Amino acid sequence: MALEYALMSAYEIAVIGGDGIGPDVIAEAIKVVRAAGVEIATTDFDLGGARYLRDGEILSDRTLDELRRFDAILLGAVGTPEVPPGVIERGLLLKMRFELDLYVNQRPFVQAATTDSPGHEFIVIRENTEGPYVGEGGVLRRGTPHEVATQGSVNTRMGVERCVRYAFELAASRPRKHLTMVHKTNVLTFAGDLWQRVTDEVATEFPDVSVAYNHVDAACIYFVQDPSRYDVVVTDNLFGDILTDLGGAVSGGIGLASSANLNPARTGPSMFEPVHGSAPDIAGTNTANPIAAILSAALMLDFLGEDSAAERIRSACAQPSQGSTTDIGDLIASRLAG
Ligand code: IPM
Ligand code: MN
Repeated sequence: MALEYALMSAYEIAVIGGDGIGPDVIAEAIKVVRAAGVEIATTDFDLGGARYLRDGEILSDRTLDELRRFDAILLGAVGTPEVPPGVIERGLLLKMRFELDLYVNQRPFVQAATTDSPGHEFIVIRENTEGPYVGEGGVLRRGTPHEVATQGSVNTRMGVERCVRYAFELAASRPRKHLTMVHKTNVLTFAGDLWQRVTDEVATEFPDVSVAYNHVDAACIYFVQDPSRYDVVVTDNLFGDILTDLGGAVSGGIGLASSANLNPARTGPSMFEPVHGSAPDIAGTNTANPIAAILSAALMLDFLGEDSAAERIRSACAQPSQGSTTDIGDLIASRLAG
C-alpha cells in the first residue's frame, strides 16, 4: 500500500565507516539501530585516509552535494598514519562540519553510579564552526631562522550566539536548568569578552536557567574532581575539543564517548560520530569497543525524533557488556529484540 509505505519509509543514512576501527564499530551501530526497530536505508561512502591514498579524493564538492540529500550521516573514524596530519581532518571532517553548517557539537557524558557517588550526566556543547579551527593565519619564511606562524581564532557574534542559545535551550529543557560557560576570559580578552557578553545577553531570555562561568584551566580540575557541578557546558571549538576528551576519560573512557555534530536549523543533514579516532593499532582485531558508535547512533535517533528507540538503546548500553566488538554489538542488539 502506497500510503503505508510512505508513512513507514526508512531514514536515508549516509555511512562513512572511514579508517581503522571505524567500519567495525559503525557496523555494530547499524545492527543495533535496526534491532531497535528503526528502519534505515544506508548508503556507504568510501572516504578517509585509505581512499585518499588510493585515488586522492578527500571530499569533493560533488560528494559533499550527494551527502546533502540524506537524513543524517553516520561516521566511524577517519585517519591513517601514512597521511600527514591535517589532510583528512581539514579536508573531510572539518569540511563537513563547516560546509554542512554543523554548528553545535553535542557531547554527553554519563558517569555510572558507584558505592560513594550517585552517578551523574552532563553535556558539553562545543561550538563547531569557528574559533582556531577555521584555519585563519599563515606562515612566512618557513624553514628559515626568521619563520613566523600565526593561527587566529575567529569568533563571530552570529556564530557564538547561535551556539550559546542552543546550549541555553538545552539547559532549559533539563531538570537542573544549569549552564556553565567555559572560556579563558582573563587572557583571551577579545574573544572572551564577546563570549561573555553574548552569554549574559542570551541569559536574559532564559530566566529559569542558572548560569556559571569557569576558566578552562579550572574547568579541567572540576571535570576530574567535581563533575557533578556541571549540567550543560558551553564553550568554544578548541576548548571543547580538549574538554570533551577529558570528559570521556572521566566518564568510563573514550570508548563510551559519543557525539552529535548538529545543524539545528536543519538546512542539511547532521553528522554523528564517536569521539574516538581510528585506532589503527587495533584495526581488524575485533577488539574495539563499539559502544561510543552505538551511542552516537542513539543521538542520531534523538535528532530524527525517534526518542524512544534512542532511550532503549541507551538503557541497553548501560548494562555491562563484555567481549569482542561483534559480541558487544550482538549482546546490545539482543537486549532490544522483542
Ligand atoms: C574531535 C577530533 C577532531 C577535532 C579532529 C580529528 C580534527 O579530535 O572530533 O574531537 O579536533 O575536532
Ligand atoms: Mn577531539
